Amino acid sequence: MGESEEAITLKIIIIGMGVIFLLSLSVIIFFIVYQRRLLAQQKERQKLEFDYQKELLKTSILSQEEERSRIAKELHDDVGAMLTTSKLYFGQITPALPLDEFNEITLKMNGFLNEMIRSVRHISQDLRPVVLEKLGLIEALQSLGQTINDSGKIKVFFKNNTTNSIRKSRELNIYRIIQELITNTLKHANASIIKIELKNENDALVILYQDNGKGLDKQEVLHKKGLGLKNIESRLSVLSGNINFLTTAKGFKVEIVC
Ligand SMILES: Nc1ncnc2c1ncn2[C@@H]1O[C@H](COP(=O)(O)OP(=O)(O)OP(=O)(O)O)[C@@H](O)[C@H]1O
Ligand SMILES: [Mg+2]
Repeated sequence: MGESEEAITLKIIIIGMGVIFLLSLSVIIFFIVYQRRLLAQQKERQKLEFDYQKELLKTSILSQEEERSRIAKELHDDVGAMLTTSKLYFGQITPALPLDEFNEITLKMNGFLNEMIRSVRHISQDLRPVVLEKLGLIEALQSLGQTINDSGKIKVFFKNNTTNSIRKSRELNIYRIIQELITNTLKHANASIIKIELKNENDALVILYQDNGKGLDKQEVLHKKGLGLKNIESRLSVLSGNINFLTTAKGFKVEIVC
């Protein structure tokens, strides 16, 4: 005897419900697993971001310390030494000193004082470039390029195609970034030409920097980052900008957007 129709319907309903139950269960399980993984990924991202910020802070503190010790060294070695020598000469001046010796000593002391004035000016100029303060970033960069051109070792081509003005509060950071790039070219690249172009793209400032030296591989950058490049990143994080290392046939090329 076959099953009654009701029994078959009941069976179908029970099986159907079972299938629906299993389906919902798997959806729920999938959802929980997915949510967990998302959370883990988010945590991982947060940790990476945190580590990066920590690294930037460390760089910024380290370079501040380095700058301080450099200034201390300059003060001690240049200004301090010259003051000591001047004091020594000054001690030799007595009422009994013959006039020709007196003249010789004052001449030397005058020389030392001039040296000292130059030294102090150099230190303060280094701390906060006067041209930057007085004439703004573009003029300061032009002047920096000129100074390097005058050294005769390397040619700097500076092109300003900006149409927007640059906020005063951002100028020093941008100046220091370009200064570090130039220093790197002088130190590592063995180049004969530096090209710097400033322009605007969608209200952002774009800096194109390029030299024709031995270059730096994109992959190499990751391992080679010294205080200089980390410092650039740290300054860019203040400016909410970023740096792209571009590949060229010859030399080193970066694009900075900030
Ligand atoms: N223009 C360049 N051409 C070729 N190599 C470069 C150039 N700029 C940087 N590099 C390479 O990248 C490395 C990292 O540069 P970075 O400025 O971070 O450190 P550094 O110049 O060696 O030291 P620091 O800047 O801390 O005094 C350099 O040691 C150099 O090998
Ligand atoms: Mg450097």
